[in-house]
Amino acid sequence: MDVKRKVDIIRVNPQDWPNGTPVQKEEDPELGYDIIPAERYTSEAFMRLEWERVWTKVWLLGGRSDDLKEPGDYICTEIGRESVLIVRQADGSVRAFPNVCLHRGNKLRPEGIGNVEKFQCMYHHWTYDLGGAITRIPDLDTFPQGCPPGAALPNYPCEEWGSFVWFSLDPDAGPLADFLDPMQRHIAPYHAERMAWTRDITVEWDCNWKASVDAFNETYHVQGIHPQLQWYLDDVNVQIDCYERHNRYLIPFAAISPRVALPSAIPPAIYDIMVKAGMDPAEYEGRVSDIRRDVQLFKRKHGPAQGKDYSALNDDQLTDDYHYMIFPNISLNVHSDDIMMFRQRPHATDPNKMYYDIWMFELVPDGEEWPERPKHQRFKHRDKSIGQVLDQDAFNLPTVQKGMHSDAFKGLWIGDQELRIRHFHKVIDDYIYGPAGKGPDDI
Ligand SMILES: [Fe+2]
Repeated sequence: MDVKRKVDIIRVNPQDWPNGTPVQKEEDPELGYDIIPAERYTSEAFMRLEWERVWTKVWLLGGRSDDLKEPGDYICTEIGRESVLIVRQADGSVRAFPNVCLHRGNKLRPEGIGNVEKFQCMYHHWTYDLGGAITRIPDLDTFPQGCPPGAALPNYPCEEWGSFVWFSLDPDAGPLADFLDPMQRHIAPYHAERMAWTRDITVEWDCNWKASVDAFNETYHVQGIHPQLQWYLDDVNVQIDCYERHNRYLIPFAAISPRVALPSAIPPAIYDIMVKAGMDPAEYEGRVSDIRRDVQLFKRKHGPAQGKDYSALNDDQLTDDYHYMIFPNISLNVHSDDIMMFRQRPHATDPNKMYYDIWMFELVPDGEEWPERPKHQRFKHRDKSIGQVLDQDAFNLPTVQKGMHSDAFKGLWIGDQELRIRHFHKVIDDYIYGPAGKGPDDI
């Protein structure tokens, strides 16, 4: 079929919404049509380049500010070979430092969240304060060389933005705001700080971390692996925007894909959207193609009475999926009532493995009590379901990774619907190869 066929998706006019999330279509970058070498997904040498020039240079998402409410609250998170402690200080600031005892290299805390008065190594009881300074070394007089230099763990740059806490392994990382730009203006209108944790899961996947980023950066796969979503969203009239580092697409939800015939009855998934908005689908008299617009109008009108302040969001955002990729590893599905976020982390040593973090947050209506934070779960791919759609997304990734090793497969053959994948690799190139660009022998 001609996937460029337009249907009557009503999009917000940029002039009508000058101060909210930008909606204008950016001009597509010209990134050519070369294959993207498979070795980027399989080679240990490329993995090392990524570590040296990407992971240790960018800002990284460490966790959520509401896990750091009180002084001594900490998040212990891992990225590649590093483990990092992010800690709320007595003065309300946050600091990050390596999760490693300077004595014999033991980890101070296991991965997870918690609260401490001090960090004490379980081995010889070297002790550190909330900022990483050494406060006690048993039998210090038996170390004629004294304390390790500075008597403290080095601090990493660490900042909060948008109810999330970020760190960088690069002591010279510039301000977080410069790195995130222009994401703040795009995402702030959703007020993530009004949303509570509802899911916190880590799944071990047998694929390169980029295969997972790619899997969420295009809607070309919807017709193949999520056929049921064609009666839920429009996978064709998708606006793609590439920025300096980050990119996004905008997918109309509560809509029918032009790849399938318009049904006469309300499809179950759209029925659920209506119910969630507070509408009664049994009373609905409009056409199926009018539902998206009518849900938007209904939420605009009834949101305030439901304790939901949508005033910073445009009409499209009341139904649609604005999907962001914050370089290098955050996939963010932002919706008016929830945020579904994926953090894709590389394995420490194996380019064929990764960690896929699923973080879900839901809007808590004004005056309602916040739900209890869910406990973190961790398991291997296929040991448990992560929901039908995400199971479908995950299904092919191990076989994609195996196929990448074939001599017959030279690289990814990327189409226009997958422009964000090409842009993602271009940004990786910018970090790895610098302004001179890729040389003939680079992958
Ligand atoms: Fe998908």
